[in-house]
Amino acid sequence: MKKILVTGGTGYIASHTVVELQNAGYEVIIIDNLSNSNIEVLDGIEKITGVRPAFVELDINDREGVRNVLESHPDIKGIIHFAASKAVGESVYKPLLYYRNNIVTLINLLELMPEFGIDGIVFSSSCTVYGQPDILPVTEDAPIKPALSPYGNTKQINEEIIRDAIHADMPFKSIILRYFNPIGAHPTAEIGELPNGVPQNLVPFVTQTAMGIRKELSVFGDDYDTPDGSCIRDYINVVDLAKAHVIAMDRMLEGKSAEKLEVFNLGTGIGVSVLELIRTFEKGTGVKVPYKIVGRREGDIEKVWANPEHANGVLGWTAKETVEDTLVSAWNWQKRLRERGIQ
Ligand code: WQD
Repeated sequence: MKKILVTGGTGYIASHTVVELQNAGYEVIIIDNLSNSNIEVLDGIEKITGVRPAFVELDINDREGVRNVLESHPDIKGIIHFAASKAVGESVYKPLLYYRNNIVTLINLLELMPEFGIDGIVFSSSCTVYGQPDILPVTEDAPIKPALSPYGNTKQINEEIIRDAIHADMPFKSIILRYFNPIGAHPTAEIGELPNGVPQNLVPFVTQTAMGIRKELSVFGDDYDTPDGSCIRDYINVVDLAKAHVIAMDRMLEGKSAEKLEVFNLGTGIGVSVLELIRTFEKGTGVKVPYKIVGRREGDIEKVWANPEHANGVLGWTAKETVEDTLVSAWNWQKRLRERGIQ
């Protein structure tokens, strides 16, 4: 059984990926410092797959700590690196925290990989690296524009670090996955998105408003150059996204590609506006979402959606779930949190 290290493994996208890795027959070791996630996520994973992943509470900034984990698990063959700070707004106010946490951690992993014969790293990147694309849908060879936030800049810098390390013939491969907007929860409602405090992202705010936790949703602007004036994004089901990571890891470990570095956009290829998403949520769940239009949010780009043909063709991966079904899964998760007295 191939063993994989998943950093940030108790986080939202990572926990769904751990489930799919286990479903595919991988053994998973999680390292997480629990700074933005809860250890109960391990219970959820175990309830879904019947297998509790090994867990080490550790900050990846602690390189000797990571070395100790790799020494205890010399059969780790691959890494999926999720651990990072990811709040766009917060990064504007705490840039040094973001540069240290998001960049030093990657360098620590890349430096240790050759020592332990780790063949490949899948890196969690973001469509944020494109900024506002000139051409839509956006392909992987679209120009990388100056980042609009330190968070987005750390993703760009991380991609360059990986590119330069591989160009310097370091003995490993990498697949960079640029996520569009991950949403939804596992169909069992055993795991899902659990933001700390007031949600920054749209969908958890929608579900908390629908649950009555929030009074109303603020729609950040309806004066954009889009059909209904609100911003457009490519919302992708988190389980579909997780499955792409397993395919990417298989591809690297089985040597299916002659390339040492590959980049893929992971999106549905369908743009959905904020107002369309609200209506789709209401249609799918039958629950109203009170909202008001307010001013634009600084740093928001107007519209972005993926051209997923490269991932579709080369990885043989396609996003399957509709936005409506995905929003229903997010609502089912919110209801489960209420049943469990968590929110
Ligand atoms: C989506 C749309 C908002 C909240 C960011 C990062 C990206 C990834 C996902 C980490 C926008 C609007 C939102 C609200 C609103 N993060 N909105 N009211 O900004 O596209 O992407 O989060 O991996 O890298 O850039 O996602 O969910 O914050 O916003 O109107 O209360 O919803 O203006 O148009 P975003 P989001």
